[in-house]
Amino acid sequence: MDIKLEPNKFELESTTVWSFPERGDWATHCGVYRGNWSPYIPRNIILRYSQPNEWILDQFLGSGTTLVEAKLLDRNAIGVDINEQSILLSNQNLNFQCNTKTQQIIKKGDARNLSFITNESMDLICTHPPYADIINYSQSLDGDLSLLGVDEFIHQMNNVAREAYRILKKGRVCAVMMGDIRNKGCVVPLGFQVMNCFLNAKFKTKEIVIKEQHNCKSTKFWKKQHISFLLLAHEYIFIFIK
Ligand SMILES: C[S@@+](CC[C@H](N)C(=O)[O-])C[C@H]1O[C@@H](n2cnc3c(N)ncnc32)[C@H](O)[C@@H]1O
Repeated sequence: MDIKLEPNKFELESTTVWSFPERGDWATHCGVYRGNWSPYIPRNIILRYSQPNEWILDQFLGSGTTLVEAKLLDRNAIGVDINEQSILLSNQNLNFQCNTKTQQIIKKGDARNLSFITNESMDLICTHPPYADIINYSQSLDGDLSLLGVDEFIHQMNNVAREAYRILKKGRVCAVMMGDIRNKGCVVPLGFQVMNCFLNAKFKTKEIVIKEQHNCKSTKFWKKQHISFLLLAHEYIFIFIK
């Protein structure tokens, strides 16, 4: 069966505010994997910051959205996730025909230790880590960063950032999406804390994009409550450069 391999209308984003009310349903994309990102996000990042046949890494693979876009846009890619379920789902999602000679490699592994990838070999990193313990991707999987409280999560994200810096070529981009969280009525600025991990690892900030959040599962619930705070409705996409 023929499937639609690209969005109906696509224009490369040109400002620092991005919003995709329709999340995107071309190729094998769908919103089923909890917390997955809209394919418009990796599509924008890949087109703006890489060339055909280059190598892209997503070390928090999830359902494989980034690798599906890499395949459609003729880029080689490596996807890594700690969870076997993600590996199975990503393999399924990459199982479609399109006209490319590139390869997309999926590996079970830990974003903090990518020793199978050599120094300065990647042309682009395009990734979407968990947001501390907001969505748990496993019950008790060793190394699953989605199970950690904020302090330990930030501690571990320093290791993720150092490993990202090691494998990226000089002058190239590492794009990371991260959101803030709320605790007891106050905002925990997880986004900027994660940004600092990448700055500590010697990256520079090329852009900070505000991404409007749509279709958030808990929004309806919170709108009905009498709450004295604003609903968080944005995430950050940090565009770091080495
Ligand atoms: C927000 S999801 C990624 C969603 C992805 N962008 C998509 O569109 O499907 C984060 C992923 O990070 C994975 N993860 C958690 N800890 C990890 C680690 N230490 N190394 C690699 N992956 C990890 C989780 O299993 C989860 O699949």
